[in-house]
Amino acid sequence: MSIAEKFVSMEYGPAPEDPKEAQAWLDRHHRQFKHFIGGEWVAPAAGEYFETQDPSNCEKLASIAQGSSADVDAAVRAARAASAKWRGLTPHSRARYLYALARLVQKHSRLLAVLETMDNGKPIRESRDIDIPLVARHFYYHAGWAQLLDQEFPEHEPCGVVGQIIPWNFPLLMLAWKIAPALATGNTVVLKPAEFTPLTALAFAGLCQEANLPAGVVNIVTGDGATGEALVKHPEVNKIAFTGSTEVGRAIRGATAASHKRLSLELGGKSPFIIFDDADLDSAVEGLVDGIWFNQGQVCCAGSRMLMQESIAEVLLAKIRDRMNTLRIGPPLDKAIDIGAIVARVQLERIQRMVAQGVAEGATCWQPQTVLPSRGFYFPPTILSNVHPTSIVAQQEIFGPVLAAMTFRTPREAVELANNTVYGLASCVWSENINVALQVASQIKAGVVWVNCTNLFDAACGFGGYRESGFGREGGREGLLEYMEPKWFRHAPKLAAVAAPKLPEEANESDTSSIDRTVKLYIGGKQARPDSGYSMEVRSPDGHLLGEASLGNRKDIRNAVEAARKAEGWARTTAHNRAQVLYYCAENLALRRGELARRLAAAVGQQQAERELELGIERIFAYAAWADKFDGAVHNPPFRNIAIAMNEPIGTLGVVCPSEAPLLGFLSLVIPPLAVGNTVIAVPSESYPLIAGDLYQLFDTSDMPGGVVNIVTGYVSQLLKTLAEHDDVDAIWCYGDEATTASAKAMSTGNLKQVWTNEGRAIDWFNPKIAEGRWFLEHATQVKNIWVPYGE
Ligand code: NAI
Repeated sequence: MSIAEKFVSMEYGPAPEDPKEAQAWLDRHHRQFKHFIGGEWVAPAAGEYFETQDPSNCEKLASIAQGSSADVDAAVRAARAASAKWRGLTPHSRARYLYALARLVQKHSRLLAVLETMDNGKPIRESRDIDIPLVARHFYYHAGWAQLLDQEFPEHEPCGVVGQIIPWNFPLLMLAWKIAPALATGNTVVLKPAEFTPLTALAFAGLCQEANLPAGVVNIVTGDGATGEALVKHPEVNKIAFTGSTEVGRAIRGATAASHKRLSLELGGKSPFIIFDDADLDSAVEGLVDGIWFNQGQVCCAGSRMLMQESIAEVLLAKIRDRMNTLRIGPPLDKAIDIGAIVARVQLERIQRMVAQGVAEGATCWQPQTVLPSRGFYFPPTILSNVHPTSIVAQQEIFGPVLAAMTFRTPREAVELANNTVYGLASCVWSENINVALQVASQIKAGVVWVNCTNLFDAACGFGGYRESGFGREGGREGLLEYMEPKWFRHAPKLAAVAAPKLPEEANESDTSSIDRTVKLYIGGKQARPDSGYSMEVRSPDGHLLGEASLGNRKDIRNAVEAARKAEGWARTTAHNRAQVLYYCAENLALRRGELARRLAAAVGQQQAERELELGIERIFAYAAWADKFDGAVHNPPFRNIAIAMNEPIGTLGVVCPSEAPLLGFLSLVIPPLAVGNTVIAVPSESYPLIAGDLYQLFDTSDMPGGVVNIVTGYVSQLLKTLAEHDDVDAIWCYGDEATTASAKAMSTGNLKQVWTNEGRAIDWFNPKIAEGRWFLEHATQVKNIWVPYGE
């Protein structure tokens, strides 16, 4: 075709990226890759290999080592052996290594982009302009944190050896999200890339060699789910960071429950893409192209559920169909291709199956008349309209280029529909009315909200989910905290068992006059009798009967959760108001100090009782002070945006309080979540639950709204189970012995609750440097980043 003819037709010609360098790189490795362990290429112990292929043409690219438990073990040992030296480097030296890796990613960016596209099927335009630049940005940003670590986190230590398991949708980017913060904080790493896309991780291993990174700091073991499982279960791994399906995330939660491994999970999503009638519709449609057709829709935060205001539905759908007609689908190495290949046949079949089921459930399917390439795994851009909110395509992650469209009438309905999902990863809001957009953004339960923009990422802005989209953040300051712990906590001794009271003596048994009270439950701001009608005796360590506490059961916990949910307005009261209520609590506790100390003394002795009261009053004051100071941040990502990082309350927390300091332990755990707007169901110390009686009087007289704090006494083992399994409880804080804390994690796998425990270790509740402050507030909140663009 002549140039003149091209001007007339304006047709795209082929614009293929040259894969020569990438092919040469594969050839240099004889198209066979071993594991990268201890700085060397190590053959798999079992001698097994699997194939990785180019999904755009089904051609084999290379043979890849299949990791066995023996390989994982060798890698973990190498990481352990490298650990002391790596964490012993000065922050500046570690920063230099991260900086060198960033430079090398830039230097080899074209090779990495082409390899990524060949292995994954994503358009070269995306791997070249989005994935790889973000990888470099991540290493630069974290090189900065490595430099500043001692100044900014002086009392923290790295977790140690970190196992990282990543998916196939952004292979090198997910590697960067995992490895950069881990190295910056002084950890060493064993990373397992996804079986469909191992090549760029192996190329990255080469960059580690080029940067002279000390051997064993980064180890790459390739393989499938079984390799991942071996890494998760390895006893010498201190932390697991996982990105992938919710199903596997759940299995990992279960598998790590009985260990002390820290865990962060970035799982699936069904993110709402909300368009109001006053939105700039053409911009919104372009946003949608990035939201659902980017990376063939194989994006955890894909805007896969479009919620459009009813009045614009027809015109908007017409615009979307017009735009879909112009999307170019084909070989991903072509620079003018919008939609490349699906990663693998199994994923293609999953998409086909789900779309067919959506149509069977009543959705209308529309696809442009596109000719798909005859070889490779392709699926056309698809829109499903008339989707019922309960349909599989509205509820489950499809992970393909498929948009499910629904309508709403009011902002309130939009929020309800948006939150009608078990997930909570991301969301978009399109409206020219900034008030409406920010109001809706604040109400959506998701870790990221993009206002009038889509799929923007930056290393400085944390990313991660609410609810079944997982827990923990990647990126930003909050992302670093996933890889460190306070020094004292890592070295805290095991919690000593609290001695059971002596058996009652004859005299005490008949001495009913010593029972001065029976303590009820406290639910929804009222004292309540237990559903069981039973109570439990409470005795002093020397066997004296001190009183009786209500024996709460499943039903009582359910009532308490309902009351806590109804009191959610507490999150929306101003921080100033919450502080006032807490100050009032502290004052009232101070007024009743002598009386409470006397009663508590019977359980813990005079000296401890007085200390608990003194520090308890101080602790409430401290969190009243924090209430209006635990602010978020405003990030300046390198685009024309600000990202507002808000510290949001998690929601309704179940708090199991420690035995050893009945009053101070309770206040140390219950007050911080309240300060930042959560509601709480507290199970007080099993050894002295009578404290509940004093506490509900305190809350009653201090203007604490009913339902914000609920207290259910009883046997921890029974109450914890109901709390952990309750879908309306968002997080569990469980402080107790090893077995109790492990069971809290195991029982919370169902809906992937955040669980925070003392890991069976002793906490010095009497030391404010340990038992008070930011660490508690960080666990009582989750960061939501709201991205807002500026400029014309
Ligand atoms: P997957 O969750 O099975 O795989 C992700 C990673 O976990 C891979 O490296 C895999 O080898 C590893 N893995 C698998 N089983 C494991 C186990 N028991 N223990 C430890 N590691 C294990 O995801 P898959 O099968 O590739 O995709 C299935 C669906 O998952 C997709 O259709 C999509 O809906 C979702 N998905 C979500 C992702 C996200 O970023 N949220 C990423 C990839 C998949």
